[in-house]
Amino acid sequence: MTRIITCTSGKGGAGKTTLVANLGLALREMGRDVTVIDANLTTPNLGIHLGVPLYPTTLHDVLKGRAEMKDAIYRHESGLKIVPAGISLRDLRGVDAHGLPDAVMELLGSSEIILIDSAAGLGREALSAIEASDEIIIVTNPDLPSVTDALKTMKLAQQLGTRVTGVVLNRVSRMGHEMRTDQIRNMLDGVEILAEIPDDVNIHRAVSSRQPVVHHAPRSEASRHIRKLAARIVGAPGYAEQPWYRRLFPFVFR
Ligand SMILES: Nc1ncnc2c1ncn2[C@@H]1O[C@H](COP(=O)(O)OP(=O)(O)O)[C@@H](O)[C@H]1O
Ligand SMILES: [Mg+2]
Repeated sequence: MTRIITCTSGKGGAGKTTLVANLGLALREMGRDVTVIDANLTTPNLGIHLGVPLYPTTLHDVLKGRAEMKDAIYRHESGLKIVPAGISLRDLRGVDAHGLPDAVMELLGSSEIILIDSAAGLGREALSAIEASDEIIIVTNPDLPSVTDALKTMKLAQQLGTRVTGVVLNRVSRMGHEMRTDQIRNMLDGVEILAEIPDDVNIHRAVSSRQPVVHHAPRSEASRHIRKLAARIVGAPGYAEQPWYRRLFPFVFR
């Protein structure tokens, strides 16, 4: 069975694309068959995070009826599959996000997990990404504007009948001005907090070296928390705490 998970947020810049790229790779590291889809049609950048910004056939072509989903799937060197979006303004002409749920359905059975990188907000693009999935993970920063917008996304998903698996707190620095985890949980109706990813300079370094952080700085705090989240999502807690040689060569220790 294929799990379709959309990473979404009310507010922009919360860290969805960074999370989808790195979570996809962390799940791949665990031997999972994963496809990531860039459903941020107006400002896509998942391809950039994965080091390959330009692709000949994209999700835009599929949504315009010019290509089938299978023609828009590419394989990252890690084995992660990616359905990229077109990055030029021209790609946007005549594209309709309404077709996204049907396009994603074409991939059912082709991967164990499909991770969708959504646009922020509650507009048509974000809505289509939520409708295309069985469950959502809401990404928020630990500040009031971000959490307020996360609440709206949560309510909307509930109205649409999409399960809210939980919330990822991103860019946590534990400074005094930040909202505390219990305050955020209370404000979001007791939702499950799946991970607290620290604000980590390694993410900026990774972006500038055009590599995802789990590859660029695998032992950084951000990478550690992302791997822990991956393990939690597939119900393998403890995996992320294993030493690196066990994670890389699991077959030797079976
Ligand atoms: N944990 C983090 N620590 C530091 N910077 C981060 C972290 N997560 C994301 N960022 C930075 O925040 C910015 C927005 O991230 P991005 O993933 O593009 O957000 P979104 O897709 O939600 O708009 C980027 O510059 C990214 O490098
Ligand atoms: Mg994004």
